Amino acid sequence: MLVKTLENSAQDNPSQEFPSDCYQQKFHVHYEYPVYFTRDLFNEDNDLLASTIDGKNEARCHRLKIFIDSGVIEAIPEIQDRITKYVSARPDCLKIAGKIEIVPGGERSKNSWDLARRIMGEIAKERLDRQSFVVAVGGGSVLDIVGFAASLVHRGLRLIRIPTTVLAQNDAGIGVKNGIDEQGMKNFAGTFSPPFAVLVDYHFLQTLAPKYWTGGIAEAFKVAIIKDKDFFGFLCANAQDLKNRDDRAIEYVVKRCAELHLDHIRTSGDPFEFGSARPLDFGHWSAHKLEILSDYELGHGQAVSIGIAIDSVYASMTGLLNDSDCMAILDALEKTGLPVWHDILEMRNKEGKLHLIKGIDEFQEHLGGRLCITLPDGIGKKIEVHEMDPVLLEKAVSILSLRKKE
Ligand SMILES: NC(=O)c1ccc[n+]([C@@H]2O[C@H](COP(=O)([O-])OP(=O)(O)OC[C@H]3O[C@@H](n4cnc5c(N)ncnc54)[C@H](O)[C@@H]3O)[C@@H](O)[C@H]2O)c1
Ligand SMILES: [Zn+2]
Repeated sequence: MLVKTLENSAQDNPSQEFPSDCYQQKFHVHYEYPVYFTRDLFNEDNDLLASTIDGKNEARCHRLKIFIDSGVIEAIPEIQDRITKYVSARPDCLKIAGKIEIVPGGERSKNSWDLARRIMGEIAKERLDRQSFVVAVGGGSVLDIVGFAASLVHRGLRLIRIPTTVLAQNDAGIGVKNGIDEQGMKNFAGTFSPPFAVLVDYHFLQTLAPKYWTGGIAEAFKVAIIKDKDFFGFLCANAQDLKNRDDRAIEYVVKRCAELHLDHIRTSGDPFEFGSARPLDFGHWSAHKLEILSDYELGHGQAVSIGIAIDSVYASMTGLLNDSDCMAILDALEKTGLPVWHDILEMRNKEGKLHLIKGIDEFQEHLGGRLCITLPDGIGKKIEVHEMDPVLLEKAVSILSLRKKE
């Protein structure tokens, strides 16, 4: 078959004068968005939000539809007034479209098409167009559902994410994905849709519940173990400070972890995950299953911590990780206040198999293609494996059961 590639940069092939049987369409889309780190974003003197929105010098007043996580409103009741004041102080540049909307926070809200439709309805009511801004302020769940809705309206509005949890600041809020849980599966429906900008304000972390403070640190362990030995060393050395909510330590963790995630998206050659490999999902095949099995009692970060523990013990049993590195991982997770065990690990189906193991099939289905699980290959390096031995997984679970807390 004659194939003619249509590509802007390539010169037409003059020898191909007869009609081709296929036009191979080819073009590249350039994506670019800033991730800023700041403190006290809505302080009237902090110009970051306004200058980001007006960054393209479009010389007009920008309409913003703002959605805020209910957990943020509870923790910082004055935030709505502060945002209103901030915007009112810049009438030539910013205007709030309608009223500020409150979106229920937490994983359960991500479980609802109704909520995604309601968000689209609020956007429709204000007749936002593709040049208007949706501003999402919240944890990973709210960012995911608001981002999902915003990416569907007119095939994508400009989205500014303002992540307010550790996990959202170092992972969920800075990447190119969003989604909702559907059909009993995490992130079953979603889109790849890079944001217009991300504004990380460390001040939000002060009001976080302990579960969400430490939960985000699990993602830092995840990326450090497979990509950055020095960062893993930092996490181990500062585990106690991190547990004690040391600002300096958490800010370093957020920034370094965000940088590693951004590096991966930029340099992996597969930002929209067309392939089957998903290194940043180390520890996640079981984490997603555990979240569902626990009916979301386990937070994402806690589930990831247990997932890291399972895969690290498994990696040590297959000779990929030496025992002392494996112990260092388990000890550091626990010292940070993260779990490496939950009783649902022992739940079995009628055939007596661990429920957990079903997570491997579901993970493969979500990724598509061949099973591809990332394991540590020593600290700071990774390897992809294409099968997991259920007998070894049973053993890994029984090894971790020795760390059960009474
Ligand atoms: N899109 C992605 O690339 C990506 C990546 C990783 C994780 N995620 C998703 O992120 C979600 C988890 O996000 P999360 O860990 O941020 O939890 P979360 O969004 O569920 O929020 C946890 C709780 O903290 C509250 N909260 C948020 N900010 C607060 C603040 N500053 N002060 C007090 N309370 C606050 C929320 O209301 C909620 O009750 C999961 O659904 C996960 O799948 C998405
Ligand atoms: Zn995660």
